[in-house]
Amino acid sequence: MCGIVGYVGPKSAQEVVVEGLRRLEYRGYDSAGVALVVDGALVVDKKAGKLANLEKAIAETPLPAATTGIGHTRWATHGPPTDANAHPHLGESRRVALVHNGIIENFDALRTQLEADGHQLVSDTDTEIVAHLVELQVRSGVDLTEAMQRVCQVLEGAFTLVAVDAEDPDRVVAARRNSPLVVGLGEGENFLGSDVAAFIEHTREALELGQDTVVTITAAGVEVTDFHGVPQEGVRYHVDWDLSAAEKDGHDWFMRKEIFEQPRAVADSLLGRRTRTGALQLDEMRLSDQEIRDIDKIIIIAAGTSFYAGMVAKYAIEHWCRVPVEVELSSEFRYRDPILDFSTLVVAISQSGETADTLQAIRHARTQRSKVLAICNTNGSTIPRESDAVIYTHAGPEIGVASTKGFLTQLVATYLLALYIAQVKGTRYGDEIAEVMHQLEAIPAQIEELLGRSEEVYELARAHVKATSVLFLGRHAGYPVALEGALKLKEIAYLHAEGFAAGELKHGPIALITDGLPVLCVVPPQGRDQLHSKMLSGIQEVRARGALTICLAEEGDEAIPRYADHLIRLPKVPVLLQPLVATVPLQLFACELATGLGHDVDQPRNLAKSVTVE
Ligand code: AGP
Repeated sequence: MCGIVGYVGPKSAQEVVVEGLRRLEYRGYDSAGVALVVDGALVVDKKAGKLANLEKAIAETPLPAATTGIGHTRWATHGPPTDANAHPHLGESRRVALVHNGIIENFDALRTQLEADGHQLVSDTDTEIVAHLVELQVRSGVDLTEAMQRVCQVLEGAFTLVAVDAEDPDRVVAARRNSPLVVGLGEGENFLGSDVAAFIEHTREALELGQDTVVTITAAGVEVTDFHGVPQEGVRYHVDWDLSAAEKDGHDWFMRKEIFEQPRAVADSLLGRRTRTGALQLDEMRLSDQEIRDIDKIIIIAAGTSFYAGMVAKYAIEHWCRVPVEVELSSEFRYRDPILDFSTLVVAISQSGETADTLQAIRHARTQRSKVLAICNTNGSTIPRESDAVIYTHAGPEIGVASTKGFLTQLVATYLLALYIAQVKGTRYGDEIAEVMHQLEAIPAQIEELLGRSEEVYELARAHVKATSVLFLGRHAGYPVALEGALKLKEIAYLHAEGFAAGELKHGPIALITDGLPVLCVVPPQGRDQLHSKMLSGIQEVRARGALTICLAEEGDEAIPRYADHLIRLPKVPVLLQPLVATVPLQLFACELATGLGHDVDQPRNLAKSVTVE
């Protein structure tokens, strides 16, 4: 959601900024623009649509050389995606250019005041207001840094702002509140980005910024203050992935590449989790054994795919730890007046670590004195920073908007958390925990084997490009898998898809079954006989009404083939771990079907990778 880049240094600012925007494209956007500082004036170019439109405009009318610049990819909130609403926005006298991610909540009042003072506003955006306000400040005689500090004091809402002043060509100033911003530290040059992908080809040294900070970058250095000018320290860190991790590696889509990276992502997320004696250790757990023993309820909060990981976690934690678990959509959490106290552990699951709904939910939980543990894939992002403890997943950067390896590694992290709590509370013996760890450690090879058969799934997907609706059925841990399979199809194939708990079918959804309707059925492993036979009945029920059944069943399950129009074999794994393998064919199915329909799989319409507005 909105990509932001800033640069000061010896290189061509236009090239650095446009390349940075390209690397942030995955965040989702609908217009793009740049502003350069050239000989005491601003040069701005911005276009609705994809970055290619802006690049075409620049190719037709090249911009003058500059070494200071900012850029933006906008995901529309206030006003449609037009050239006029694209960022950067300018102040009244075209001295300040500014880009923005987030929402300024007191925008109406500020706009009314500016208009009353005679300002001409040319866009529908909240951003333009801020450009005017910052420019008023620099024209009053303060420098851009102080101007930004003063304006931030009157803004309400969530924002990352980045600005340049035509009369102060050697600095870029940015501010953040509840919205992502990271500094890239170079040699004789510095960078700003919504995330490190914006500058990873130039430097892997980064500076994480605290809440409510203003940062000034010049070619020579970086200064951080709060909104009142009081100096602040950023946290310096080294980015442990490089440019190649953000490239497609021969695949047509980042999503497909990321699906195929899952064996490694799962293996990496399991690495280093055991001591020499075999006990589980979680590096950034930061909760004492006593605090864990005191937990009498767990509430998991998350959105979208991460929410489905939370649903699987509930089965695992309740089974292994005997602690009651609630799973709640983060956007709903604080509005239901949840019952929380110091003995409630709140687990926030977020791939990006920036999802605004989840962030607000953990803030609410912490005001109620609950401990918050984040499961996150993005080092230095806001959610883990504001949590008491964190388990980082090691998926590497996830670029495709549709989460794949993010999901599987979240599952791994939740299993680790469950086993760790079981170890501390003593609800499972050490050898039982070791056995699950062995089963988990076998998963990467099993996913690899499944991926080796991807062509079977692709064929099925290609055969269904004309489908207008697809249903997914699952039970127990297979139910969230069904929901995830349906979400993938909705997101990237724009196809009506629904996931159901198979037992719910006859309470309504079975009325949807028509002749030839594809129904993907996630069959639980055979060891769980009741579950298995109930699922079998569900499959028979839909088939009897004309559905075309595509069954995902484990190797050796001979009860299913006769009811399956198509069969996808899954490796044999325990029921609780089955989502780690059963999800993979559903990802492949959605990716191939969306490709067949000619959609942009990595950047589906209307969606953003990290949803930083509530
Ligand atoms: C997944 O494919 C989605 N794009 C989306 O549902 C996502 O999982 C959700 O927005 C939560 O994001 P997060 O994990 O970064 O918090």
